[in-house]
Amino acid sequence: MSRINEETVREIRERNDIVEVISSYMPLRRSGANYQGLCPFHQEKSPSFNVNAPRQIFHCFGCGVGGNVFNFVMRMEGLTFPEAVKRLGEKAGITVEETPVTPADRQRRDQRERLYRINEAACAFYHRLLLEDAAGAAGRRYLRQRGYEAEIVRSFRLGFAPDQWEALVGHLASQGFAKEELRTAGLVREGSGGRGDRDLFHNRLLFPILDPEGRVVAFGGRVLDDGTPKYLNSPETPVYHKGRTLYGLYQGRDAIRHARAVLVVEGYFDLLALHRAGIANAVAACGTALTADHARLLKRYAEQAILVFDADKAGRQATFRAMDALLPEGMAVSAVGLAAGEDPDSFLTGQGTAAFQVRLAAARPALEVFLDEQLQIHGDRVEGRARAAEEVLTRIRRLPSDLERNLYLKQIAARTGLDEALLQGKGRGGAAPLPEQRTPVQARRVEPEAETRPQTFLLRLMLANDRARGQVREEGTAVLFSSPEHREVADYLLAAEDAEGRLPEVLLDDLHDDKVQALLSGLLLAEDQAEWAADPERIFADCRKAVAAVGQRQRLRELQELVGAAEQSGDFEAVGRYQLELVQIKKKL
Ligand code: UTP
Ligand code: MN
Repeated sequence: MSRINEETVREIRERNDIVEVISSYMPLRRSGANYQGLCPFHQEKSPSFNVNAPRQIFHCFGCGVGGNVFNFVMRMEGLTFPEAVKRLGEKAGITVEETPVTPADRQRRDQRERLYRINEAACAFYHRLLLEDAAGAAGRRYLRQRGYEAEIVRSFRLGFAPDQWEALVGHLASQGFAKEELRTAGLVREGSGGRGDRDLFHNRLLFPILDPEGRVVAFGGRVLDDGTPKYLNSPETPVYHKGRTLYGLYQGRDAIRHARAVLVVEGYFDLLALHRAGIANAVAACGTALTADHARLLKRYAEQAILVFDADKAGRQATFRAMDALLPEGMAVSAVGLAAGEDPDSFLTGQGTAAFQVRLAAARPALEVFLDEQLQIHGDRVEGRARAAEEVLTRIRRLPSDLERNLYLKQIAARTGLDEALLQGKGRGGAAPLPEQRTPVQARRVEPEAETRPQTFLLRLMLANDRARGQVREEGTAVLFSSPEHREVADYLLAAEDAEGRLPEVLLDDLHDDKVQALLSGLLLAEDQAEWAADPERIFADCRKAVAAVGQRQRLRELQELVGAAEQSGDFEAVGRYQLELVQIKKKL
């Protein structure tokens, strides 16, 4: 998918007045410089949803969402950014062509078009061989043995590469494709020793791999016997990036959207087996670990991912890697355990759909499974449990939702017998604070609000004057911001200043984190008594202090844990040392 050019985005933004667009979804009432209404994104009785016409942004002071006109439509209609741009473009009578602007861009686009056509032609060729050609008999026999009928063969456009060197080369050459571009498509290899170019796939069953728009971009090919490699895959090309492609997404997208959940499996055949069993909300990675790009792609369709990987060591590792990719995107991740040596395909074939559904229903949160495994690895001693908890906490910190972070913290505390308050401190994503807890450790904590207030003020200062921005640039945002969202907004404002002439609200397009977007739109819309402008130096000082305090509190928690462990093991010299440091840090705080 090429990028929509910036000029077009700007034009569409300018032609879609935010007040008009939002008014077409809900009633707005004028109030001073702003328009107000009942927030469509949370339940409320009095309006805290604000729209600002001069700045062309919205912000809800109730639930904190905000952004520009594109962000509103994205949220309202569940669209991606390019989709929202297209939608608003249509309304304004501007057709969004993802047109390349420079000659180099144009060349790239043309090349991609050719690659799509080559892959499509290859797919049609191989598919016909499998369906009806004598050369495809071996492939048909193989599929029949594994129990696949023509229906699946057709809907997945499976193919067969015959046991010949130049079947595809010959066919595509006759269609007018050049040697060079067939090589770029990865389907043909340059011949050696004076021989002509040769096909990549021989005597293999082929799985065409589609992009989310349904275009063929690559193939995976399985041997029919015990040959190696078992699967041969197209190389990466300008239209095929393994890390961004999911097998079965195109065929399963409606089912995934509908269920808001997606099964993630390892293999091509696992995916086919699921479809055959009537379970269409599934995808498979194409022979790679699940990436953050995969996770973002899935997040567009589903809230929940259910990992059903092979029940072997590699499968377990892949499960936790996938979990690590999916959790930070805010997806709920659970894992299904199969009996040793099984994969979804063999399980469904051997035990049937009903038995599989029972397993699905018994899926456990992946983090819980992970904690179990960590506890097993590190053993049941106090140190072991602390190590296991630490491993899990690393993951919990990346969860975007406070609610979930809290739930998991409670679970770990219960499972490990470690103090929840202690874990709470460690598990704080640094992002939003956890709700108040009446525990001694919490009570001594600085109020998070008191901590972020100076940072919010500093952002206001940055918006208001160059001097403050200059000083922040000099000192560095890492020294001044302990809250990751505040820091991101600060980085962003500095970057905006670099990109001359672009206002922050225009740039909101590039901010993809909801919390950061909300923070910035809130800052831009807030009307306050400019309390923040009174004593800039003081604000800077408070900010520096907050960052320092984070480090000290972290150490404090570590020390409390260390004292406990040292006491357990009877190392009283260490207990003394740790306690001394503890007292010193407490004094500073
Ligand atoms: P598996 O070895 O589990 O294969 O590899 P499978 O999908 O269960 O296939 P069958 O049922 O034995 O025919 C899982 C996935 O890993 C990738 C493929 O995407 C495969 O589907 N893989 C595996 C490769 O890319 N290359 C290989 O050599 C093996
Ligand atoms: Mn398998």
